[in-house]
Amino acid sequence: MKKQWWHNKVAYQIYPKSFNDSNDDGIGDIPGIIQKLDYLKDLGIDIIWISPFYCSPLADQGYDISDYYNIDPVFGTMDDFDDLLAETARRDMHVVLDLVVNHCSDEHEWFKKACQDPDGRYGKYFYIEDWHEGEPLPCNWRSYFGGPVWDLLPGHTDKIYLHVFHKKQPDLNWENPEVREDVYKMINWWLDKGVSGFRIDAIMNIKKKLPFYNMPADREDGMCATSKMLEEAEGVDIFLNEMADRTFKPHNAFSVGEVFNEKPDALPSIIGDDGYFSSMFDFAETILNKTDEGWYTQQPVTPEQYKEACFGSQKRAGNIGFLSNIIENHDEPRGVSHYIPEGDCCDASKKMLGGLNYMLRGLPFIYQGQELGMENVNFQDISQINDISTLDEYQVALDAGLSPEKALKVVSHFSRDNARTPIPWDDSENGGFTKGTPWLMMNPTFKEINAASQVGVEGSMFEWYKELIALRKNPAYEDALIYGETVPYLPEQKNLMAYIRKGENQKVLVIGNFQREPQTMVLPGTVKSVLMNNLDQLSQTGDTLQLEGYQFVILELN
Ligand code: GLC
Ligand code: CA
Repeated sequence: MKKQWWHNKVAYQIYPKSFNDSNDDGIGDIPGIIQKLDYLKDLGIDIIWISPFYCSPLADQGYDISDYYNIDPVFGTMDDFDDLLAETARRDMHVVLDLVVNHCSDEHEWFKKACQDPDGRYGKYFYIEDWHEGEPLPCNWRSYFGGPVWDLLPGHTDKIYLHVFHKKQPDLNWENPEVREDVYKMINWWLDKGVSGFRIDAIMNIKKKLPFYNMPADREDGMCATSKMLEEAEGVDIFLNEMADRTFKPHNAFSVGEVFNEKPDALPSIIGDDGYFSSMFDFAETILNKTDEGWYTQQPVTPEQYKEACFGSQKRAGNIGFLSNIIENHDEPRGVSHYIPEGDCCDASKKMLGGLNYMLRGLPFIYQGQELGMENVNFQDISQINDISTLDEYQVALDAGLSPEKALKVVSHFSRDNARTPIPWDDSENGGFTKGTPWLMMNPTFKEINAASQVGVEGSMFEWYKELIALRKNPAYEDALIYGETVPYLPEQKNLMAYIRKGENQKVLVIGNFQREPQTMVLPGTVKSVLMNNLDQLSQTGDTLQLEGYQFVILELN
């Protein structure tokens, strides 16, 4: 594996709408990000990935872009963005943007022109089909946010267009070379401006299996998840190699794909030395226990499942390349509420989860608020939820016969809005996020869980993350912690997640007791030093450790 400039870096995801509001309109913005760069620098962050801030009707919170070349006024101006680039560069930090090119917004001029003249140039930018009332649709794929992927083309009664996400997110037709040219031009425009790279949204969806066809229904609605079609679609790598050759590679840019449903042996072509992306997210943990039916049938993740998923991914990636490791993002519930068994979420278990994930091989991404130990919201009413996918899953649960209370409880656990509540900077009104009305409710825990009560406070979650980051970035441990392989240790020991990061000349053992009860563990060798410990004590008798519930330690071995 070739060494890359970003291998020893640490990344942080900003969801701009909820990060920091500088002008008190209730919505986070770019000047708000600039105000917090010192906070991020202090934490140890090198790369920030900012979720979309381009012009957008915000039907899917910015993942529906109506102008790729401009900043939405709610987030600021291009001058603000230029300031952000200058301010990050000054702090030796990198900016990574979100690249959303499977679809644009139905308010993008391309789509408006397509509606005006479906047979003209821009009609070919989308998937538009003839259709008459009463006829079957071209295929029975279900959109990710519910309902068929087809909708009537605005202004027409005999034409429909494809959207695998929301109907306000028409899919771009990547088979059309003109679309690809326009996308590459836009990517290069941002790279030339000085951004260091992109996180690439929903990218595997750009290759459809054509012609459109029906798949066996996986729910009573007679439809089938679009993701099943992706498993059959061939040739996405042709587009993605072309994109990389025309954009990322000539700029030596960093790229991280939101990749689901890749083909079994595809990893080298994606993240290998000549892969089309620098890295891709490891979603093995986030997809655990997902079902065809929907959230209402999804079971909690057990520690054993979590461990297996992590080790599976580490093995799969091997020496091919770096995965990007996450506990959560803006599409997930808060990791501490999702992976720690119910009732056990506390400082120790949160630190354990953070440490276990963080020390895996790959590029760590921290999602805003994770460093503060933010938890899920206990939503009391469906009206508190804004996210379109949650509203869809709520309806799915009701349709399956759940009572409104039960349906709310289900979606409250999985809702993307859990991670989207504004960041509490202190314990003042609205957690200091805004003096206006926050666009989404604050997590009611903000009086206890906020940045001001943690920064510089010994034993806090923030300081814990800071220590984890500093350890991984310490050149003395690069051999093991950046480039060392991950060797699972005692993988069969229940609710113990332990692994050795094995460098050429260095061995670091990472141990988490993933349960409330204490347990003992036999060491594989002698301990040179204790690098981190989430509790005050560590008891050892001979070659055996007595771990407390949720104890987490990092040991350097001789
Ligand atoms: C990705 C984004 C998600 C968005 C979807 C459609 O999965 O992370 O937030 O809803 O793509 O763009
Ligand atoms: Ca604002």
